[in-house]
Amino acid sequence: MYVDYTIELTTAGPNMMAVNWLILMLFPCVHPAPNIILFIADDLGYGDLGCYGNTSVRTPQIDSLARDGVKMTQHLTAASTCTPSRSAFLTGRYPVRTGMAATGLMRVNTWPYSSCGLPSSEITFAEQTKKAGYLNGYIGKWHLGLHKDRIGDFEHHPLKQGFDYFYGTIGTNLDDFGYETKVITNQRPYWYGELFTIWAVTAVALWSLLRSKYIGTVMFIVLITLWTVPIICVYLLFENFTLLSSFVHRNFELVEQPIRLAGLSQRLVNEGVEFMQNATVARQPFLLVMSWIHMHVAIKTAKQFEGRSQFGRYGDALEELDWSVGAILKALEQLGHGDNTLIYFTSDNGGHLEIGTDGGYNGFLKGGKTHGAPDGGIRVPGIVKWPSVLPRGKVTDEPTSLMDIYNLVSTAVGVNLPSDREIDGEDILPLLKGDVSVSPREFMFHYCGNRLEAARYRPKGGSKTWKLVTHEPNLIPGSKLCQFVCSCNFNIHLATPKLYDMTSDPGETTPIDSNSKLYRDITPIIQNAIYNHKNSIKPVESQFTWAKLAPKLTWQPCCNGHFPFNCECIDPKYSENFTL
Ligand SMILES: *[C@@H]1O[C@H](CO)[C@@H](O)[C@H](O)[C@H]1NC(C)=O
Repeated sequence: MYVDYTIELTTAGPNMMAVNWLILMLFPCVHPAPNIILFIADDLGYGDLGCYGNTSVRTPQIDSLARDGVKMTQHLTAASTCTPSRSAFLTGRYPVRTGMAATGLMRVNTWPYSSCGLPSSEITFAEQTKKAGYLNGYIGKWHLGLHKDRIGDFEHHPLKQGFDYFYGTIGTNLDDFGYETKVITNQRPYWYGELFTIWAVTAVALWSLLRSKYIGTVMFIVLITLWTVPIICVYLLFENFTLLSSFVHRNFELVEQPIRLAGLSQRLVNEGVEFMQNATVARQPFLLVMSWIHMHVAIKTAKQFEGRSQFGRYGDALEELDWSVGAILKALEQLGHGDNTLIYFTSDNGGHLEIGTDGGYNGFLKGGKTHGAPDGGIRVPGIVKWPSVLPRGKVTDEPTSLMDIYNLVSTAVGVNLPSDREIDGEDILPLLKGDVSVSPREFMFHYCGNRLEAARYRPKGGSKTWKLVTHEPNLIPGSKLCQFVCSCNFNIHLATPKLYDMTSDPGETTPIDSNSKLYRDITPIIQNAIYNHKNSIKPVESQFTWAKLAPKLTWQPCCNGHFPFNCECIDPKYSENFTL
């Protein structure tokens, strides 16, 4: 049964509305420069939205963007996990060019106070709009690092990457922050046993050395201690994610610890609206990134969204996400910026299939988050609305990339692309406008970590898009899933690459016969492009070494005391009963 709850956009309640009208009257926007709002959801699947064919969820606000703008049906991220995908989004560059491609088991920046992060030498789209005098705000999940060399240098913080205002989480959301379960035991069900076995095997070996008099008692005690301490540290690290990684910053200041997930969407909306008001008062054009915490687990919504959907807490969060987008749009209208604002909506990667009903739905696509090259992990919703420039209700099936938004933003604000580095984004404005009908991008490369595992080819002529796949995820036999996440290291190299016709087979079900003329015609063209692309990659310092990824406990943020004591606080701006 479809029950239509209409959720009031209470952000636009009397107070906020009055404020916005007052601002509009006192500070009419005179600048012709467009404002820019970039919405990026976390782990939202390709099939999760009404405007992408889902008939049983309610996403009217996001759907309105597609109705009033251009919907891209073949829109691709540069990675199937958050950290690298977001780095590519911000810089318009493949993660392998910026050191943000994972090299090992850890594929995201797990501990926010590690030294891994987006190098400040990269030129983000915020640094581009800065050149045009924009006020830049980043609200929500960052996940691209904090400090680099010492505590307090904030080298990887949003304010060092071109943003003027930041409110949100430096790290990612995790099961531990909201559920009774732990992300480590979800990933590795036998984690405690594994850890104990690793300890015990070595302990037994040392014991036998002692017994056979290769080492003395003192040596034995020293060695066993040296071995036990790191094991206990690893245990404590993974056991205490909430204490260690759950916090909210406003600019450089730690304001909330641990994160109160219920109501966070409302706080993000409030911060976004205030930012737009401030920019309007300052008569400055603005760039606002709303990087939602939804749909990543742990999923918690404000009370009024609990139990509203037919899809459990995931569906509730989806409705809250949609409401949040709507609240920002409404405030934007009230501030008089409706027509001259470039609005973009996307997700950082596909839905996380391994976690079942708490993960997203990727529709007819194969695979999901962490899988590497299959489209389910990298093909995401992508909508651009810009009423004064773009047609309404247009749909393009041409391949485009999140990295293209870098170029789009640069063009919109009239700033040239950096000339001292390779930019992988393409100019899709003519395609969005409908001036051309073919993607400017002939080839696109799909990575798992730092390994290229597939490439996409959209010949200038013809009407088809091809995908050549060289590696596949190592799925549990008889299943379409990995154990919690896929690891690039275990992905399988295909002796004969598989070629798919993505136009008639978007689910990658039936590879083209490798003995066919078609295969022999298309494959070498793609292989040649891969060769050229690989040659264009210059070696760069990796941000994903163990040394960089390791948590630096002396950098641990603790808002009220001395770590690990009293690390709890509530932002005075948002008391317990703050609601929108
Ligand atoms: C719509 O999305 C929900 C939530 O992810 C999913 O469970 C459901 O299968 C989707 N339904 C359709 C018809 O696409």
